[in-house]
Amino acid sequence: MSVNVHPVKPEWKAKGLIDNDTYLAWYKRSVEDPEGFWAEHGKRIDWIKPFSSVKNTNFNTPGVSIKWFEDGTLNVSANCIDRHLATRGDQVAILWEGDDPSEDRKITYRELSEQVNRLSNVMKANGVKKGDRVTIYMPMIPEAAYTMLACTRIGAIHSIVFGGFSPDALAGRIEDCGSDFVVTADEGLRGGKKVPLKANTDKAIEIAEKAGAKVRNVLVVRRTGGAVAMKDGRDIWYHEAMDAASADCPPAEMSAEDPLFILYTSGSTGKPKGVMHTTGGYLVYASMTHQYVFDYQDNEVYWCTADVGWVTGHSYIVYGPLANGATTLMFEGVPNYPSPSRFWDVVDKHDVSIFYTAPTAIRALMGAGDEHVTKTSRKSLRVLGSVGEPINPEAWEWYYKVVGEERCPIVDTWWQTETGGILITPLPGATDLKPGSATRPFFGVQPQLVDNDGNVLVGATEGNLCITDSWPGQMRTVYGDHERFEQTYFSTYHGKYFTGDGCRRDDDGYYWITGRVDDVINVSGHRMGTAEVESALVAHAKVSEAAVVGYPHDLKGQGIYCYVTLMEGEEPSDALRKELVAHVRSEIGPIASPDKIQFAPGLPKTRSGKIMRRILRKIAEDDFGALGDTSTLADPTVVDDLIDNRQNKK
Ligand code: PRX
Repeated sequence: MSVNVHPVKPEWKAKGLIDNDTYLAWYKRSVEDPEGFWAEHGKRIDWIKPFSSVKNTNFNTPGVSIKWFEDGTLNVSANCIDRHLATRGDQVAILWEGDDPSEDRKITYRELSEQVNRLSNVMKANGVKKGDRVTIYMPMIPEAAYTMLACTRIGAIHSIVFGGFSPDALAGRIEDCGSDFVVTADEGLRGGKKVPLKANTDKAIEIAEKAGAKVRNVLVVRRTGGAVAMKDGRDIWYHEAMDAASADCPPAEMSAEDPLFILYTSGSTGKPKGVMHTTGGYLVYASMTHQYVFDYQDNEVYWCTADVGWVTGHSYIVYGPLANGATTLMFEGVPNYPSPSRFWDVVDKHDVSIFYTAPTAIRALMGAGDEHVTKTSRKSLRVLGSVGEPINPEAWEWYYKVVGEERCPIVDTWWQTETGGILITPLPGATDLKPGSATRPFFGVQPQLVDNDGNVLVGATEGNLCITDSWPGQMRTVYGDHERFEQTYFSTYHGKYFTGDGCRRDDDGYYWITGRVDDVINVSGHRMGTAEVESALVAHAKVSEAAVVGYPHDLKGQGIYCYVTLMEGEEPSDALRKELVAHVRSEIGPIASPDKIQFAPGLPKTRSGKIMRRILRKIAEDDFGALGDTSTLADPTVVDDLIDNRQNKK
């Protein structure tokens, strides 16, 4: 494969915070002397009591334990707000752009301080205490960020559930972390359509309470003014409570290792895991990566298009940028509303310098035609970023040439919910770019490729991506289930953090992520456990068995392909297909909508009853010439039926 290398341009190097020599020197020190390196960079945030211990980590099972800066104390909201007030009180902290292009709001650091202090008092007055879990189910409005920051101010742990998840999914997350306080809005607004957040919350609480949960209060932001039911004694209007609250709430002194947030994410087995991040190390890592990866410089407008319901929104809309005193743009809408020029219109309207989005959006906009881009100016843009899934070189080149007019380096950032921040990435002033490669590790990150038996692979090679030592932003545990944490991440390759991703390393030591090697698929940059979709399908009365795999999809990266075996006596039909799609949407949410459903009288199983997914993947890809050995199947004839009825015939 020929690679079109884009060397660092002299002007990127001149403007950039880090050049290649600095990268190499810092990286060397960060792995040879992690204590010294992180002792120095740990000071980039404000500590109430400075740390003396830097790193105390063990990746060996049993007994995996990850602690950074453990004797230090701090408060995250004080770092994201209070410490900027003297110098940046009147600077815009959150630049909000509504779904409707006529709506925007500019919130200065001083205003942010007032809102967050009031909200902290509202939460306290309603019984929220240090260590309590607060569930946030909100649209992309500034109040979502206020709520996150208010939690950190009083030491409550937030768990944000993406507004596109269904009541069932929300209920499971409320229940799992024993959350008794929920913050939501009447309705969300995306692409001109309303999302019934409060009604979903009501349903979710009903489901969760049947399972034994107890939600004391629901705080409701009025966003659209749509009519919603308010339950007496439980539901509180945000605006009423805020009016009555004082604007002074001293920040709680938190230990570096106190939990900061839980964020549920899909794995290869079972229900979503509550990924838990803690306070000190996370903030150091989020702020440092935000500054150096995006090359953030004072007074620039920075825009990450993610939703706060995903980790990207946590680290790179809220915590990283605000800890750095940046102006962070928060966008309520979608890329193609009211037109496919929306992103670039917003860039021009607000003079955005740094723009960070997902390959799925880039591919969709590329498909809509260059004219939607070229009619806008985009002259303010300086750095472009990509995250969430591998970016194909064609989309990369389009982003580079058409959007950035070859002026802006692209940072293809590889990381995960678990890693808290970016681990493999170019730096704008330092790294020669290769389209499709996330390039080199960030400071302190030590990637390693291993084969399926755990043998370490050296040089140019391909294998399973592990990280051999800790970095401050790493997750600390699965909420309430440390054993699952050890099992999932540290037992496959003993003593190493296994990412679940496959990866190639080239002759220059650049990393190329090839995608998940476990039963996780990546649909439009969203992680989906195939097991979750399968359990949603088998929960339908007419389904006896289901197997779900991913297949290459032009826009989404991967699509969801479901093989479904029906109960005795049930007949396949298009109507039933539609019913099953609707069923999965209601169990999980629209992001889990199956793209293809194939009715299969039997699934390919080994004699011990294990479904051979390799075969199912090949058939879904319409690549059944390469099925490999099927002789170990209990009933090899099922394969012929699967091939005959495949849904992706080319
Ligand atoms: O497979 C990798 C893919 O997304 C997974 C992590 O998903 P999630 O925890 O939802 O976090 C997404 C945002 C950080 C990874 O295991 N992934 C993420 N970024 C990239 C990527 N794959 C290739 N290149 C990337 N830049």
